[in-house]
Amino acid sequence: MVALTARSENTQSHDRLTMQIVDLGDETIAIRSLDWDRDRFDIEFGLDNGTTYNSFLIQSEKTALIDTSHRKFQQLYLDVLKGLIDFSTLDYLIISHTEPDHSGLVKEVLQLAPQVTVVGAKVAIQFLENMIHQPFQSLKVKNGDHLDLGNGHELEFVSAPNLHWPDTIFTYDAKTRILFTCDAFGMHYCDDHTFDEDPELIEADFKYYYECLMAPNARSVLSAIKRMEKLDINTIATGHGPLLQHYLSDWVSCYQKWSQEQAKTDTLVALFYCEDYGWSDQLARAIAHGVQRNGVAVELVDLNTAEPHEVREFVNQATGLVIGMPSQSNQNAHAALSTILAAAHRKQAVGLFETGGREDEPIYPLRNKFQEIGLTEAFPPILVKEPPTHITEQMCDEAGTDIGQWLTRDRTIKQIKAIDNDLERALGRLSSGLYIITAQKTDVTSAMLASWVMQASMNPLGVAIAVAKDRAIESLLHVGDRFVLNVLEEDNYQSLMKHFLKRFPPGADRFANIKTYPASNNCPILADALAYMECEVTTRIECSDHWIIYSSVQTGRVAKLDAFSAVHHRKVGNHY
Ligand SMILES: Cc1cc2nc3c(=O)[nH]c(=O)nc-3n(C[C@H](O)[C@H](O)[C@H](O)COP(=O)(O)O)c2cc1C
Repeated sequence: MVALTARSENTQSHDRLTMQIVDLGDETIAIRSLDWDRDRFDIEFGLDNGTTYNSFLIQSEKTALIDTSHRKFQQLYLDVLKGLIDFSTLDYLIISHTEPDHSGLVKEVLQLAPQVTVVGAKVAIQFLENMIHQPFQSLKVKNGDHLDLGNGHELEFVSAPNLHWPDTIFTYDAKTRILFTCDAFGMHYCDDHTFDEDPELIEADFKYYYECLMAPNARSVLSAIKRMEKLDINTIATGHGPLLQHYLSDWVSCYQKWSQEQAKTDTLVALFYCEDYGWSDQLARAIAHGVQRNGVAVELVDLNTAEPHEVREFVNQATGLVIGMPSQSNQNAHAALSTILAAAHRKQAVGLFETGGREDEPIYPLRNKFQEIGLTEAFPPILVKEPPTHITEQMCDEAGTDIGQWLTRDRTIKQIKAIDNDLERALGRLSSGLYIITAQKTDVTSAMLASWVMQASMNPLGVAIAVAKDRAIESLLHVGDRFVLNVLEEDNYQSLMKHFLKRFPPGADRFANIKTYPASNNCPILADALAYMECEVTTRIECSDHWIIYSSVQTGRVAKLDAFSAVHHRKVGNHY
């Protein structure tokens, strides 16, 4: 084992960053970037013991690098790599998933090794193309595909979508019996131990990490474990924390047990699609994103490879079904559609989308069959004839949001009823104004009526808005996004309020018949608003069912100086 120590130079902080290089035997090396002082991961994930980003190198007849590191390790990581390989001999760069803490240095590796072939799931390669904006050679792999590095290092890829990104694949090396799992089975834990020889030290971090990252996709965890069963695994080489070897079956059993418990309590949408057909996977993922916004679990099921009993089980467990139409000639998918129809029942919600291949199975006969059984249609059929744009993705996202809202409507009503009467009335005395938030990102626009809005800072000027997690506009209000806060006028708010409170079908133009003009940040200003402010999102704070969106205010204007803002008085606190 070699340990290199150096202070972080390319960050403002004085975090201790070190490298650990460990020979795992059989031409395989672990290159671990140790981030000792990192105290936060994503917004909500506090860390007590730092973290590590693990990358792996297999140097056989062909050379493959599995994942890279976080950008903050740029100098350290690349120096280590330069000492281990001649970049001109690197054949493959395998991307387990595209989250920046593992693929943060892909661009730099590509510059040093332009001949390298990047290997990843189809979605991962698409994400990377958008991330690094330079051409590269790629190999898209699916579950069960093999890649021979020579000398017994026959790699097999295992699809593990949603663990914890949609594009995740595991890589199994038949020679070393190592399964490289990236985020799955990981933990944020940094010390000099390379392996899990002391489970008591790490079990709390292992569980916390599972709860934060894996529990929301418990069924995907169970599917991945099922795919792992046929592999003879000796080590799980994770992307964070120690590698699992000494108590392997215990760790896997924990994941299985926790996921089984979690899956029992989840509301589930089973989303059936054909990964390699038309635009199926792109549309499926956008719909899944919308569904998850409501806290509803989604299981993506590829109709090409799913076994009939798996399909039946998913339909039995799900309260919502979404189906991307397969091609007419896909026999396996046809059989699966019959299984879905046989198992579906009238208490379920359903939504259908065309995947865009010219030979699609027609959507309307299937829709009629679901209607005959009595399922509720959660969104009208999505018919996509052209390659999907941002607008198509937004439409799919909104369709997913609609089915998620339908499935959680009882939960929402229960929550509203749960507040006691006095408290309800007291909260109702919190009054506010009335506003329309209008946002535009690329060519996608959206708008929402809001009352939970307040000024939140003076220097710089800032406002805070509470946006429910299941709002369609939420995806346009991420850090760096811009929007306009339109203030409604006391005597002129009714028609705007009525318009923006309409139930818009997925993809509808929320500004149809509304007078607007563009702000300097390109978002629509409502011509009938009393005042407007141009804002940029600075921070998002997760507050149970809402996001608090804190934004700086750049510029603003009042249309009528002598008019008053609309005021919103409520009677009870469990409604807006
Ligand atoms: C008076 C009033 C005030 C509202 N204020 C907010 C708010 O501050 N935040 C929020 O998330 N939703 C608020 N809503 C709900 C949304 O305006 C409304 O449900 C939304 O426009 C529906 O959009 P969707 O299609 O994205 O679900 C309010 C609704 C009303 C009637």
